[in-house]
Amino acid sequence: MRIKTLRFLFLFFLFLCSHLTFVLSWKKEEFRTCQQTPFCKRARSRIPGSSSLIATDVTISDGDLTAKLTPKSEPQAKPLILTLSVHQHGILRLKIDEDPSLSPPKKRFEVPDVVVPEFTSSKLWLPRLSVEDNGLASSVYLSDGHTAVIRHDPFELFVRDDNSGQRVISLNSHGLFDFEQLKEKSEDDNWEETFRSHTDRRPYGPQSISFDVSFYGADFVYGIPERATSLALRPTRGPNVEESEPYRLFNLDVFEYIHDSPFGLYGSIPFMVSHGKTRGSSGFFWLNAAEMQIDVLAPGWEAESAESHIALPSHRIDTFWMSEAGVVDTFFFIGPSPKDVLQQYTAVTGTPAMPQMFSIAYHQCRWNYRDEEDVEHVDSKFDELDIPYDVLWLDIEHTNGKRYFTWDRTLFPHPEEMQKKLADKGRHMVTIVDPHIKRDDDFYLHKEALKKGYYVKDSSGKDFDGWCWPGSSSYPDTLNPEIRSWWADKFSYQNYVGSTPSLYIWNDMNEPSVFNGPEVTMPRDALHYGGVEHREVHNAYGYYFHMATADGLVKRGDGNDRPFVLSRALFAGSQRYGAVWTGDNTAEWDHLRVSIPMILTLGLTGMSFSGADVGGFFGNPEPELLVRWYQLGAYYPFFRGHAHHDTKRREPWLFGERNTELIKDAIHVRYALLPYFYTLFREANTTGVPVVRPLWMEFPSDEATFSNDEAFMVGSSLLVQGIYTERAKHASVYLPGKESWYDLRTGTVYKGGVTYKLEVTEESIPAFQRAGTIVARKDRFRRSSTQMANDPYTLVIALNSSQAAEGELYIDDGSSFKFLQGAYIHRRFIFSNGKLISIDLAPASGSNRHYSSDAFIERIILLGQASGSKSALIEPSNQKIDIELGPLWFLRARAPAVVTVRKPNVRVAEDWTITVI
Ligand code: GLC
Repeated sequence: MRIKTLRFLFLFFLFLCSHLTFVLSWKKEEFRTCQQTPFCKRARSRIPGSSSLIATDVTISDGDLTAKLTPKSEPQAKPLILTLSVHQHGILRLKIDEDPSLSPPKKRFEVPDVVVPEFTSSKLWLPRLSVEDNGLASSVYLSDGHTAVIRHDPFELFVRDDNSGQRVISLNSHGLFDFEQLKEKSEDDNWEETFRSHTDRRPYGPQSISFDVSFYGADFVYGIPERATSLALRPTRGPNVEESEPYRLFNLDVFEYIHDSPFGLYGSIPFMVSHGKTRGSSGFFWLNAAEMQIDVLAPGWEAESAESHIALPSHRIDTFWMSEAGVVDTFFFIGPSPKDVLQQYTAVTGTPAMPQMFSIAYHQCRWNYRDEEDVEHVDSKFDELDIPYDVLWLDIEHTNGKRYFTWDRTLFPHPEEMQKKLADKGRHMVTIVDPHIKRDDDFYLHKEALKKGYYVKDSSGKDFDGWCWPGSSSYPDTLNPEIRSWWADKFSYQNYVGSTPSLYIWNDMNEPSVFNGPEVTMPRDALHYGGVEHREVHNAYGYYFHMATADGLVKRGDGNDRPFVLSRALFAGSQRYGAVWTGDNTAEWDHLRVSIPMILTLGLTGMSFSGADVGGFFGNPEPELLVRWYQLGAYYPFFRGHAHHDTKRREPWLFGERNTELIKDAIHVRYALLPYFYTLFREANTTGVPVVRPLWMEFPSDEATFSNDEAFMVGSSLLVQGIYTERAKHASVYLPGKESWYDLRTGTVYKGGVTYKLEVTEESIPAFQRAGTIVARKDRFRRSSTQMANDPYTLVIALNSSQAAEGELYIDDGSSFKFLQGAYIHRRFIFSNGKLISIDLAPASGSNRHYSSDAFIERIILLGQASGSKSALIEPSNQKIDIELGPLWFLRARAPAVVTVRKPNVRVAEDWTITVI
């Protein structure tokens, strides 16, 4: 008993220490620098050309190119085995690992369940090898117009564009490739590593991998989230660069992260996209879940160290990739457009899941809504003020002592009833379920996990015991499919007592966060299923947990309800399981600003459904900042207000009538645009192209957009510019392209290709509809998106210089998987020569196509149409209606009048034409 108490006090002390230091905001010294990380320090000190590898035995085997790689200086060394495979859509996969026939001490970890099965079956069977360069190189077909070339001595891999003869992307052009093969420990070896008070036993010794990757014709590189920094990645090394840390990929719970740092946060996606005016885009993905560090090298970086041994074109960006463990399993994407790269990357890792309609509407969260009364009060205030919202969230305090899947029955005595009351208004609830399970002998979940041996083990083989919200905790080993299935079953209505079908889940702290662990996470020598060390799987731990939770929500009912799970940790492929957010930001203008490059970067790396805490998690936003945050957040793919428990309450009505109106207005804009957003989510679901996009994704040859991370596109039709400063009177807005733009709120037209200094008011942030597009809206405001399901549509047609426009609308039941069988409506609207037609894009009608809608179009707005036209002819009904001037929005009284066809009342599901005469 005394020992137990002492242990408790000790752990509590550790907890306090970690938190007391945290209170003073981000403590750099809590986290390792590259210099303090032996594999990184060693890799960074390497000189170009130092690892001359030779490729031998280059041949075709089983439809792949295979070869052996040996260091030139050590011909007797154990060779590495290289496999190069080619997949549809111009995707090249390169694997390099130790030779299994030479019995390495351990099989190195390859991350399972990230590459989708469809990709594996898209392999092209390579028929032959071509000899190049008088036998000095071998090449294989990659796609029509691209060839993959392996130079033998020194080894280098590159992709060539056959039309131009130019390189697209290459690996080891600078001879930095290094692969530490596993070896038996000798008596002299001391492999232990100590950081602060933690010792990593490193029983398998050094096993890092590093290499250089070059992107040709690239002006910038992007990607590799997650961190708070600019969209275009700044160089980390080289002439005229203030030497900085490399970009770090290591999932960590970073308390009070700062708004501009290469430091890695909660998630890791080792995928980089390049873009340049001349060549377009290419991409590189390394499937590896160990700690990774990546340098972006400034031009001339190699000059001081050694002569480059190959003459490379100068228009390129070199990068250097270092990982602590794993294998080389890399993917090269040839683009050439940014959207092609996304399509190629999501062909490997899967496209984003199609969310439910409710989950793309507004979410109200706080740590914590205290009790049922509080929930009821907040809910009824939204109704009283006519502010729509869809989801109310409960944070950790709703549980019985941070035992997830339980309720504090004093505060929440009637969870089912509480959820039912919300559900009656079409609303939903989300509760938090974190991975740390309280080690309490009376807690059923712990008892079961303990008995089944389902926890991650420490290096001595005992259950790993770490400190998190509940105190002493253990972590389910969701790398193991059996444990994932067990975890998923915990979400059944029977197991999760008090849950109902309108309840969805939030996975937090799944990096995993361990308050008393090294760098606030699990020790690297902890052990997972199959003897995998935590160091090898760390960045994917949260991914497997997210996957198991999402599977649980699918399993709990009839399997026909799309899951909604928000996760903080993420890895390549997380887009298939749900939404993510950017964690614990702060109520500061700079955090508002950085939310955009963070979200854009996530979108560029497949994670289309993401958002930042509106208002900022820590601290108390000034009302102006809060309003601006709502105005920007209304365009985030995931739109949720959230706050730390020490902050003042900040529901939309607590800052005076005027601010309530402004916030309500911002939320209304989102609700009006829900049909457009939903259509974009479907586009992401089918193509991988994200909902919000950097401007250059839509204007790939406009250099002025390449490093713009203040403005962004929502789909291809809307451009939004955030306001990131206090009391802003003006904003400088660049509107790209040749076509014009219409102010979303006023309809005012602006020429494209110009930077404007625009007046801004408190009413809104600048947002524009691109000429030539058609956007569908729903303008009747209700309590929740669910209640809007059958509401009529407004089509906003923004005419271009040829008086034409096009747009799409996707509709399904908003919640089930039936859309996968074709149960949806997908229309393309085309306006040209004064005629609007609606074309069916859904596959031909069949027995599976059982979604229909009676919703009709109640208004058509024509921006850029001279007001001379008098009437519109509707066919096939052959009805004639007057054209009039009507309000652009119903939001506010002062909406300008625009050319409107009112009540054409055609059904959205049908074919029709409307001619302006
Ligand atoms: C973490 C989350 C935050 C949450 C808190 C309590 O800090 O990032 O959103 O409110 O934990 O669960």
